[in-house]
Amino acid sequence: MAERMKVLVVGSGGREHALAWKLAQSPRVAHVFVAPGNGGTERLEIGDSNPQSPISNLRLPVNAESRFAELISFAQQEGISLTIVGPEAPLAEGIVDAFQAAGLRCFGPTRAAAQIEASKAFAKAFMARHGIPTGRYATFTDYEEGLAYLRNAEFDVVVKASGLAAGKGVIVPDSPEEAEDALRRIMVDRAFGAAGDEVVIEERLYGQEASVLAFTDGCTVVPMPAAQDHKPVFDGDRGPNTGGMGCYAPAPLVTPELMDEVVRAILQPAVDGMRAEGTPYVGVLYAGLMITEDGPKVLEFNCRFGDPETQVILPLLESDLVDILEACLDGTLDQVDVRWRPGAATTVVVASEGYPGPYPKGREITGVEEAESLPGVVVFHAGTKRLDDGRLVTNGGRVLNVTGIGATLRESIDRAYEAIRRIHFEGMHYRRDIGAKALK
Ligand code: AMP
Ligand code: GLY
Repeated sequence: MAERMKVLVVGSGGREHALAWKLAQSPRVAHVFVAPGNGGTERLEIGDSNPQSPISNLRLPVNAESRFAELISFAQQEGISLTIVGPEAPLAEGIVDAFQAAGLRCFGPTRAAAQIEASKAFAKAFMARHGIPTGRYATFTDYEEGLAYLRNAEFDVVVKASGLAAGKGVIVPDSPEEAEDALRRIMVDRAFGAAGDEVVIEERLYGQEASVLAFTDGCTVVPMPAAQDHKPVFDGDRGPNTGGMGCYAPAPLVTPELMDEVVRAILQPAVDGMRAEGTPYVGVLYAGLMITEDGPKVLEFNCRFGDPETQVILPLLESDLVDILEACLDGTLDQVDVRWRPGAATTVVVASEGYPGPYPKGREITGVEEAESLPGVVVFHAGTKRLDDGRLVTNGGRVLNVTGIGATLRESIDRAYEAIRRIHFEGMHYRRDIGAKALK
């Protein structure tokens, strides 16, 4: 067998812990580095919950101003063969271009291709050019013109800052007054800064939401099992939106026929369109969909793995992730047999007191090891930190992604909640109804 390789994961959330966990299971991997990582990726030696290779954190800045110079020189000195980027911000800032310029292999879209997420105005115009189903829309850089459009719109609207706003730039108003207020907040008060220089006003779509992610080498599209996120903070989809309070896969809403339609009408035309426009898209393409009465329509594209979708999709992946990522970079994805395990996975996000508002940090977490000793349970860390004395403490709003894996969706849900009962930190809260929609 070829020499085992070192890989680098960029990011610090539950998605990156899940990526590191899956990569560490590859017989082709010798060591996984995570920059900057979290309490779950800190010094994970063989024998912990880690069957294959060690994982460790790198205290290096993910710094666009310096063209990612620290990461690149680490990758060169350490002989990193493959880098995988989790979050959208470094992708939109050109981390893949910078690694490529240094002769390094980095999985994800280039800066130009990442526009599909980084500019909602670009994404909507791109979908229009290529006949990809999505809601009607218009874009504005002038507040008065936007206001006039709102007042004449013949449909319910959603108001979006076009640029990256850490998932917060979308406002779904419930009345014309709220819509005008949203436009004012984005364009006049500049609630999301420069992300709101341009605004997309779009037709509000109704139906159930699903996320379909796909691997792509720029030509071939290989979809992953559909997942369903739960954005609102409280049970029954009540309360303010969060980065995601839980997720499950596969989502039965997306039948095999519907999945075929999503690939044929959305993902393949998107990948073909990017290639035709001279900005080939390599990486994971994530379609956030509304399943409407007229079929699936795109709410947004993301240029990366989803969080928390990755935490339920990767446990279902039977194939070696390294083989798939390399085939994407080599343009040979059509030659890889991407296999999925039967069964289902559910992740429940355990959050800090007050989240998604302001929250305290530094609260001690207990019971994670006990939870992980249960069958079919993996605990991915999101906002945690390991102190020098070995104690684990909270370090973010979304703290843990407690993941159950089972033969059925029901079993995966039960396993996740059984595991949560072992875990404790002061003020912790989580939704009790993750996956319930799919059981009805
Ligand atoms: P986005 O970041 O564009 O996916 O928007 C975040 C959330 O806003 C989505 O997950 C939907 O719940 C909601 N949303 C966005 N666009 C629309 C739309 N056109 N119609 C209805 N809901 C939407
Ligand atoms: N789960 C939503 C996202 O990754 O953007």
